[in-house]
Amino acid sequence: MIILLLTLFFVAIITISLLIGAIGVPYVPTPSKVIRSIDQLGLIKDGTNIVELGSGDAKFLRYFFSKYQVNAQGYEIAPMLIFASFLLCWRTKCKTKRKELVIHAKSFSSADISKTDVVYCYLLPQTLKKLAPNFQTMKKGSLIISYDFAIHELPVEQVLKLPKGKKILVYRIV
Ligand SMILES: C[S@@+](CC[C@H](N)C(=O)[O-])C[C@H]1O[C@@H](n2cnc3c(N)ncnc32)[C@H](O)[C@@H]1O
Repeated sequence: MIILLLTLFFVAIITISLLIGAIGVPYVPTPSKVIRSIDQLGLIKDGTNIVELGSGDAKFLRYFFSKYQVNAQGYEIAPMLIFASFLLCWRTKCKTKRKELVIHAKSFSSADISKTDVVYCYLLPQTLKKLAPNFQTMKKGSLIISYDFAIHELPVEQVLKLPKGKKILVYRIV
């Protein structure tokens, strides 16, 4: 019974995500291997404030939240993904004295990233272009990590090439 309910739940998530994709907001999760590669860059550690723009089911944030003492915030507008995030975050106890994981059910265009150390995004180039002025509000020395797509409006600091032509790009606000 539980397996049937879980299967129905995930089928519903995938269907609704595809429907959302059809109207221009695709959901494709960052592969776990890529998240581990980002971790190996050593840019996210205890004390880092992370914001993920378009956080999906919070897979990226949950990984770093469970491994480090980070404060993590995600912005997501797809209702099923917000719901999935809340369920999955509840499972990983997303609030303790030293760290917090919050999913904001609102558009990333309203995200305050002025005090953020690391912004993570897996978004299409045209969306990254629209967000370029928001990135400029970030403090000096803060980082933007983008999976697969470049932010042409910013100079890239580091590119990690991955199999199948994928890449991780790191930008530093100077
Ligand atoms: C390619 S998926 C990446 C999901 C997640 N970041 C990951 O890497 O696993 C892009 C996500 O951005 C979300 N999204 C698109 N436009 C958004 C907006 N204006 N505000 C918040 N989230 C948005 C989509 O619903 C989707 O979950």
